[in-house]
Amino acid sequence: MLEIERDPKRMRAWVLAAQAAGRRVGFVPTMGSLHAGHASLVDCAAHECDDVAVSIFVNPTQFGPHEDFERYPRSLDADCRLMEAHGVGKVFAPEASVIYPPGDATRIVVCGPARRFEGEVRPGHFEGVATVVCRLFLSVPADVAYFGAKDWQQTLVVKRMVCDLGLPIDLVVCPTLREPDGLAMSSRNAYLSPEERARALALFESLTRAEQLWLAGDAASGIEQAMRDVLTARGITVDYAAVVDPLTLEPLSLKDPHGPKEKAVALVAGRVGATRLIDNRELPPR
Ligand code: PAF
Repeated sequence: MLEIERDPKRMRAWVLAAQAAGRRVGFVPTMGSLHAGHASLVDCAAHECDDVAVSIFVNPTQFGPHEDFERYPRSLDADCRLMEAHGVGKVFAPEASVIYPPGDATRIVVCGPARRFEGEVRPGHFEGVATVVCRLFLSVPADVAYFGAKDWQQTLVVKRMVCDLGLPIDLVVCPTLREPDGLAMSSRNAYLSPEERARALALFESLTRAEQLWLAGDAASGIEQAMRDVLTARGITVDYAAVVDPLTLEPLSLKDPHGPKEKAVALVAGRVGATRLIDNRELPPR
């Protein structure tokens, strides 16, 4: 039977009691509006852990002033039904005033992988993400936390924070779940009209094009232009389309023909009408 916990101290006590009984606890942090992508993270956690906790908290500090915080879909009942069907024992759903107590004045700033892309387009976004994830890890001191690869940059930022602050939690990054035609699953897909939904597929197509050109030996700059062409041809306003180092997100260094195989990730973000979507693909070593 799934239980909803709103109190961080009781939540923490539940995790510590499970661990004291020798149980491994997995944690999936979310903002709710859960779909099959989230369920796949839970399934992965359930496979590796004895107990799984999920948090549902629409974090105000990771939204910019003109972003979709107010209209972000909220569906706690449906979310809990989905989580229960996937064997989740506890949903942590705190009030904002608990996560950010009156007068709160503390933020976690991550540099390095947070600097470019989402960090540039959405100033303050990763500060909000790092702060809430750290706060959630304190309330849910699980053995391991599960994140989706769709938010590639977020996974790097959280890994950096966990390493730099010495947080005692392991991180697992699970593959992006996609619709049958390739569109990455996202809570924000719900905003798309049928016409926008069809155009949104260009994000996936731009990544497929990137992989083809990458394997054909093209340089990052040419691949990035080709990605932009795919996106703009479908009327998508491009925030970025980039082929970069998968760990640092810095430009690829010039390839040494005798060196190890080159690795990269293609990142894309764009606006389909009023909806901003992101996606990425790890490119095979070449
Ligand atoms: O990926 C998300 O849903 C959010 O950024 C997270 C990690 C739950 C923090 O609010």
